Amino acid sequence: MPGAMHDDIEQVLFTPEQIQTRVKELGRQIMQDYDGREPHLVTIVKGSIPFLADLMRAMEIPLSLDLLGVASYGAGTTSSGEVRLTKDLDDSIEGRHVLVVEDIIDTGLTLAYVLRNLRQRAPASVRVVTFLDKPAGRATTIPVDYIGFTIPDAFVIGYGLDWNQRYRNLPYVGILKRDVYGG
Ligand code: PRP
Repeated sequence: MPGAMHDDIEQVLFTPEQIQTRVKELGRQIMQDYDGREPHLVTIVKGSIPFLADLMRAMEIPLSLDLLGVASYGAGTTSSGEVRLTKDLDDSIEGRHVLVVEDIIDTGLTLAYVLRNLRQRAPASVRVVTFLDKPAGRATTIPVDYIGFTIPDAFVIGYGLDWNQRYRNLPYVGILKRDVYGG
């Protein structure tokens, strides 16, 4: 039913045009900062896929990709902090310049686990880029090198972000109506 997903949106936070402009800026900045070093993009699936696809095409330098799957136990709209690997990297990151690509940092617990895990594998460097940062949700301190947008304490979906696996394909980022998720 056309329009059904859009009817569940309370407010659009970032339009497709705003997203594309910001992601291109981020890509250019990262490209300049790496200055001859080849980044190895480690993407946390699934939510980061649209961001990864746009970000890597904004970086006109040699780079490589890998995917890491993590799941946090816990229901509803917040994470519990208990994290486990669901898909490991294909390749070794030893001696490589790892750039972790995330869609959103909320509590920071997923990223804290990922960073601990990756650092044990002796990379040359580790930096983090996140499309969205929600500082109000933070439960632990973590370093974030690049941030697309800082958002308020709301439940957002679209551009990869889901609720119950839905809405990832929306081309914009929006706030989900409370009556949809019963919050
Ligand atoms: C989301 C997001 C981050 C994490 C952030 O993943 O992609 O990995 O939650 O939350 P935190 O900072 O509170 O730990 P999710 O578990 O929803 O999986 P998905 O990427 O498959 O949607």
